[in-house]
Amino acid sequence: MSKVTVIGAGNVGSTVANVLAHRDFLNEIIVLDIKEGTAEGKSLDSWQQAPIDNYSTRVTGVTNDYARTADSDVVVITSGLPRKPGMSRDDLISVNAGIVKSVTEQVVKYSPKAIIIVVSNPLDVMTYCAYLTAKIDSSRVFGMAGILDTARYRAFLAEALNVSPKDIQALLLGGHGDTMVPLPRYTTVSGIPVTELIDMDKLNAIVQRTKVGGGEIVNLLGTSAWYAPGAAAAQMVEAIIKNEQRIFPVCAWLNGEYGLKDIYLGVPCKLGRNGIEEIIQLKLDASEMQLLNDSAKAVREVMDVLDRMNAAN
Ligand code: NAI
Ligand code: 2OP
Repeated sequence: MSKVTVIGAGNVGSTVANVLAHRDFLNEIIVLDIKEGTAEGKSLDSWQQAPIDNYSTRVTGVTNDYARTADSDVVVITSGLPRKPGMSRDDLISVNAGIVKSVTEQVVKYSPKAIIIVVSNPLDVMTYCAYLTAKIDSSRVFGMAGILDTARYRAFLAEALNVSPKDIQALLLGGHGDTMVPLPRYTTVSGIPVTELIDMDKLNAIVQRTKVGGGEIVNLLGTSAWYAPGAAAAQMVEAIIKNEQRIFPVCAWLNGEYGLKDIYLGVPCKLGRNGIEEIIQLKLDASEMQLLNDSAKAVREVMDVLDRMNAAN
């Protein structure tokens, strides 16, 4: 019996639930929102899709009723404001920190054994906020960003090379912001190093487009993306519940890995039934390490803002 709760029935949360329902490996999905009727309506719509798309996973929406989330195996937190054009993810910190903190308190009260995946932005710092609030092992509190950012990188590469995105394997480190670190040295197309297939100028342009990929969609839509983010969070849930031991870039608490300590940052992790089963340490070259340190510095500055906010309260 596996039960997953998704907090926030907005664009991303409802997509996570809908993708998971289609995969048909969970017994129950609870979607919770603070706004009366939103989670109920979207979940009912998802459940009514089941006879058409052939799945049995029951999706139920609730308004702020945390008792219904009790004993969830995994909880995905998507509640919070999304970006509007002109905003950085960091602009969301004060509102979203209040939301993530109050939500996490309820989540751990009703599901003390759950694994928590944070999606709300600014991602690295909201994951830190959930970790401080939940007071559980960091192997059970982590964030989704790297799968999305890598997917954008892979999609842009697939287009440039005119190959299937399925055949592009890639890795990306760092924070979920413009300092993220796509790694061409670890990018292959069916095992062929990407650097053998594309010239460096084109590759650098794709790396740059990836770094601002979230903003590109915000500028087009007036709000942030949801299809790829929702599918990315669902992929993490699946790896955990099925104990797949898959390796993904995950926003994880570092305790000396990559020479960094007491910080949430995107690194390759193995995901399974215990959450983060292992943090994989790559042998980065000097320039990659420099980019990772720059990204860590940017994330640390926003973590400090949260620490100061917490100290003032
Ligand atoms: P949205 O506005 O469509 O949905 C947010 C939902 O949260 C709303 O339905 C709202 O009623 C609900 N909510 C607000 N406060 C709540 C509370 N205290 N308890 C329960 N529900 C509450 O926003 P969207 O597009 O779904 O984005 C959600 C968050 O995810 C944003 O912070 C966004 O920036 C972030 N995001 C992160 C990504 C990542 O890669 N980590 C990618 C895309 C979005
Ligand atoms: C994204 O990258 C805004 O974090 C959100 O789409």
